[in-house]
Amino acid sequence: MSSVDGSGQPRADEVTSVAAERGPLAVEAVSLSRDFRLGRGHVLHAVREVSFGLYRGAVVALVGESGSGKSTAARLLAGQERPTAGSIRLDGVPAEVSSRRAFRQYKSEVQLVFQDPFSSLNPVHTVRYHLERPVQLHQGKRGDEAAREVTALLEQVRLTPAKQFLHKFPHELSGGQRQRVSFARALAARPSVLLADEPVSMLDVSIRLEMLGLLDDLRRRFQLALLYITHDIASARYFADEVLVMYSGEIVERGPAEELTQRPAHPYTQLLVASAPDPDNLGSALRGGTAPAGRQPAATGPATQGCPFSTRCPLADDRCRAEDPPLRRVSAVRAAACWRLDVAAPGILAQSQGGGT
Ligand SMILES: Nc1ncnc2c1ncn2[C@@H]1O[C@H](COP(=O)(O)OP(=O)(O)OP(=O)(O)O)[C@@H](O)[C@H]1O
Ligand code: SF4
Ligand SMILES: [Mg+2]
Repeated sequence: MSSVDGSGQPRADEVTSVAAERGPLAVEAVSLSRDFRLGRGHVLHAVREVSFGLYRGAVVALVGESGSGKSTAARLLAGQERPTAGSIRLDGVPAEVSSRRAFRQYKSEVQLVFQDPFSSLNPVHTVRYHLERPVQLHQGKRGDEAAREVTALLEQVRLTPAKQFLHKFPHELSGGQRQRVSFARALAARPSVLLADEPVSMLDVSIRLEMLGLLDDLRRRFQLALLYITHDIASARYFADEVLVMYSGEIVERGPAEELTQRPAHPYTQLLVASAPDPDNLGSALRGGTAPAGRQPAATGPATQGCPFSTRCPLADDRCRAEDPPLRRVSAVRAAACWRLDVAAPGILAQSQGGGT
């Protein structure tokens, strides 16, 4: 798609996602917005005109601090929340979730895994029950065939020997084992898209890397289009092909994971990278260390007018406080929403204007 904003500049929709190098487009968010009415005429714009694609075999990370709209974006993509505006396309076709049947069909392609496996598993049901139901529902298997599939799913998430886990209840499992059951349940639908909403942040730091390794293995094995939601930019760099940085419901920067985290353009991304325990030591945030900035509540909330980051940005000027900057192409694979990139990221702009990518 090619379009131009009011200033005559090419818009960010001309940026190519590096995730597209891995495989075909599976699901696409097209200018998705979600408002919440809070009463007394107040409206919260939780997600604002967000567009991105998820590609088979690739990981796209959605990074941002608490309240930036990450989970709302995931629920929209999962069909659990209705957009106020915009649309979702699955395999190039507008997603249909209005009837129960259509939603089930959509869910068999797009699965969501939550941060807290304990609350997403039913305490009164065994592991076997949790897996057998989606196997029956989405694969139509019964009896021995379903039992073999349940065993295979447990093996795929490395809960072995499988028979030791079949009859366990969620409270008899460790946090990591419960999250593996959540992954297995999602895989039971044989999805093409997996939305993982902070899948390791509730787990003990000692097993976070191992769990991301498992997700990566599943991505490769099933050619999953994976959305990895996190507040931790170091883990996004370690794990993702492309990073989308979200602030106050908007994508404020996007680009290849390594490049964006090594040379962030947007002042908010720069803050996230600077606050990460050690951006060069990728495992450090996963293994422990101080809490990344995204988890700590910001001292000042987003601006309601102009650039949402203007209340915290050291570069904010009058224009920033008056007008919200659109997401603009910075290079063939990068975009950022900032009026003052010439000051915030002069090297990146100079490179792109000189024909670099
Ligand atoms: N059902 C709802 N009704 C009203 N406001 C909501 C609702 N769901 C989310 N919000 C608000 O929308 C904003 C975005 O919330 P969301 O949960 O998507 O953020 P998040 O980035 O996932 O945060 P966290 O990192 O804490 O999980 C927040 O201000 C939140 O309070
Ligand atoms: S537009 Fe202005 S306030 Fe917003 S990030 Fe850029 S410099 Fe900062
Ligand atoms: Mg969330």
